Amino acid sequence: MTARIDMLRLHDLEPTIEEFREAVVAGLGSTPKTLPCKFFYDAEGSRLFDAICELPEYYPTRTELAILRRHAGEMADEIGPDAGIVEFGSGAGIKIRLLLAALERPAAYVPVDISREHMLAAAQDLAAEFPGLRIAPVCADYTRTFALPALPGAHPQSMVGFFPGSTIGNFAPSEAVAFLARARRLLGRNALMLVGSDLPKDRETLEAAYDDAAGVTAAFNRNLLVRMQRELAAELDIDGFRHEARWCPVQRRVEMHLVSLSRQEIRVAGHRFAFERGETIHTENSHKYSLPEFRALAGRSGWLPARCWTDPEERFAVHLLRSG
Ligand SMILES: C[S@@+](CC[C@H](N)C(=O)[O-])C[C@H]1O[C@@H](n2cnc3c(N)ncnc32)[C@H](O)[C@@H]1O
Repeated sequence: MTARIDMLRLHDLEPTIEEFREAVVAGLGSTPKTLPCKFFYDAEGSRLFDAICELPEYYPTRTELAILRRHAGEMADEIGPDAGIVEFGSGAGIKIRLLLAALERPAAYVPVDISREHMLAAAQDLAAEFPGLRIAPVCADYTRTFALPALPGAHPQSMVGFFPGSTIGNFAPSEAVAFLARARRLLGRNALMLVGSDLPKDRETLEAAYDDAAGVTAAFNRNLLVRMQRELAAELDIDGFRHEARWCPVQRRVEMHLVSLSRQEIRVAGHRFAFERGETIHTENSHKYSLPEFRALAGRSGWLPARCWTDPEERFAVHLLRSG
């Protein structure tokens, strides 16, 4: 079989500009002001996230990659031959290469991402590296229900969800449970799921990871304002907001905010949103779960925690879940 991405089968459920506008109006109209982190990821946001992954302060990517390099063989043994892999938030598709290379005859790979062009470029590269693998990309918002594409010619023996990057931590715990339950329904009976989850650690390490010295995470956060200007013709002063990352020990999460440097207004979609000096837009949460906390969360969504791999310093964990 020749390597190919079945572009005609690209399942395109990219959020519309109306959805972005509605989310901005609802988020800036709420108290405290918020914006959903999924809108970080246009082409520029994805490029900035890839740059974050290379930063010395951003330990999660290299730690999870090291876990995968070391244990992909054991993960592949648990999964078995002829599996169909669905990756949620596939991004640049770096980590999946390690798993695909270890798997016996992977039957199909379905990357799912909100950032269409970035996902398609990654899928093209992957097709060149894994000739014979059927790749069926889906551009969708995984916080909503969507269907898996047909996989003609592929006959997966089992379906496996892959959700690396500690992206699970971007959900509130109740949303994470709802997401995992939806993924379990999507993957069907006898499914498995591998989930990368960051572990709690000291404030200094956590805040530096989300507020690097080179200012890349700050640019990533402010990209929300750039998108509002460009896509929604918002009237706002991008330099009037600074990036902030805070470890909140009670909620056990790092919060990212855009802090208003003065009294000002954002005008967008016929609305005016007033800011006091120091008032913030809360743009992202990154929850950190201990190993037992994550297992309890997975259990609440109906998955059975089966195995877990960590690095020697216990900075990051990759959990294997079974649908039961
Ligand atoms: C934190 S990055 C992780 C990327 C990659 N999986 C990794 O481990 O490095 C989150 C990824 O999920 C995608 N994403 C974020 N929210 C999404 C949503 N609601 N639906 C689909 N994709 C989403 C982003 O475009 C991005 O590629």
